[in-house]
Amino acid sequence: MRTTVLIVAAGSGSRLQAGVPKAMVTLGDGHTMLEHCLDSVVAARDAGAIELNAIAVVVPGDPDHAASLEAVCHDFAARTAVTVQTVPGGAERADSVRAGLAAVRTLAGSAGSAGSAGGPFGRHALLVHDAARPFVPPAVFDAVATALESGTAAVVPAVEVVDTIKTVTGAAPEEVTGTLQRTQLRAVQTPQGFDLTSLEAAHRLAEEGAAGAAALTDDAMAMEAAGHRVGVVAGDPLGFKITTQLDLMLANALLASGSA
Ligand code: C5P
Repeated sequence: MRTTVLIVAAGSGSRLQAGVPKAMVTLGDGHTMLEHCLDSVVAARDAGAIELNAIAVVVPGDPDHAASLEAVCHDFAARTAVTVQTVPGGAERADSVRAGLAAVRTLAGSAGSAGSAGGPFGRHALLVHDAARPFVPPAVFDAVATALESGTAAVVPAVEVVDTIKTVTGAAPEEVTGTLQRTQLRAVQTPQGFDLTSLEAAHRLAEEGAAGAAALTDDAMAMEAAGHRVGVVAGDPLGFKITTQLDLMLANALLASGSA
């Protein structure tokens, strides 16, 4: 199935305190997180995991920060001949995804035959991916794409949770209010796969809802709220998200040892 990849890279990375948007942070091998992320998409295509149509990259709204990410995308497009379109993002991740969806619809619609863009004639696959996950292996793209091929409208890669997760009161001094059954918990990664038309409708619904789209921390949440079943496939430890300095140290150690 023709697949468009939407990479959200508009986050400020405040928890990383790098002084530049997180996707622009350079890893130990001299390449930015966004470059690694883009390269992982092409590696998945080259491995036959996805039938890549194009990539949309959501960049920060601030023009100075956007310019550096746009330059990365431009170089990547020139190097790989993949169509890459950039679009300014929003304040929350869900705002950035919604901004990206408009670009994806254009890319999907212009991608070829009638029906390739979804709607009444066919389906178009969309993978929504965090730029902050630079090392996702082709096998994860493959598992997500295979689930979409089989007709599911939404699928997430996930790994088991190692910690015991408790709910708390929230106000200091906090108290435990319950313990979730660890065997039923999964840590969900990206790329998350969707039928494009279904995800567009789910995000519209979330935007109109009482909680608004801001409460969405991933896109599967919008699909769940819209009543879709969301499939789960095996994620990978290398699909971890770089959020803190500790994550960055892990990323650089993996690169130095040739493990990523
Ligand atoms: O903040 P969080 O870790 O959930 O961010 C996950 C991904 O979403 C990152 O790749 C980040 O760049 C992106 N993001 C975005 N727009 C925002 C916030 C986050 O594109 N406003």
